[in-house]
Amino acid sequence: MSGARPVPRPVVIAPSILSADFARLAEEAARMERAGADWLHVDVMDGHFVPNLTIGPPVVASLRKVTRLPLDCHLMITDPATYAPRFVEAGADVVTFHVEALPEAEARALCRDLRARGCRAGAALRPRTPVEAVLPLLPDLDLVLVMTVEPGFGGQAYMADMAPKIAAVRAAIGDRAIDLAVDGGLAPETVAHAGAHGANAIVAGSAVFRAADAGAAIAALRAGAAGARG
Ligand code: DX5
Ligand code: ZN
Repeated sequence: MSGARPVPRPVVIAPSILSADFARLAEEAARMERAGADWLHVDVMDGHFVPNLTIGPPVVASLRKVTRLPLDCHLMITDPATYAPRFVEAGADVVTFHVEALPEAEARALCRDLRARGCRAGAALRPRTPVEAVLPLLPDLDLVLVMTVEPGFGGQAYMADMAPKIAAVRAAIGDRAIDLAVDGGLAPETVAHAGAHGANAIVAGSAVFRAADAGAAIAALRAGAAGARG
């Protein structure tokens, strides 16, 4: 029906294990599951696309054995076409690559390959990347990730000036079943802003893992994101 309001996607809270204790990942995953997390966000960095180096497929495979939570792998790497299949084989449920890393035709092929392998396909935008870079890929995507910090590190300040980009992606998604994720600086104080502009999937590292009560932090993020949507 033309003019109908798009069906809102459910709110998803995805704690980022970048802020976890890496010596105790199984316990940290279990702690997030008990705290009410919907997904576990896994930040993969290659020391080249971003100036930091984190984890690879063997860690994802190990996590897959110890948690029921969907594994949402965010590839901040220069060569996602080569490595994305390895994350799928390791048990990723969502693989999100950066649109800056490859030309549009290759990005489209990667989305289709991910979906053919039974994995959800996501595309991420760095803060300086215009929204137009992701729009041609929407028919082949399950998730769009708008970075609200410069990727590379946890604990940075939320960039409120990403609001127009979040809103533009939400408008372009329309009634497609595509999640709109935000990542970076999300906390109970900033989540309503992102939610009000259309984000439904909230990635949060330090705000959840460093909280005295992770369950309360997740509940606050969920309430903030949901409340902002009216
Ligand atoms: C940054 C990562 C984020 C990061 C978020 O490059 O993509 O997922 O872990 O951390 P906070 O929530 O602490 O900003
Ligand atoms: Zn991330």
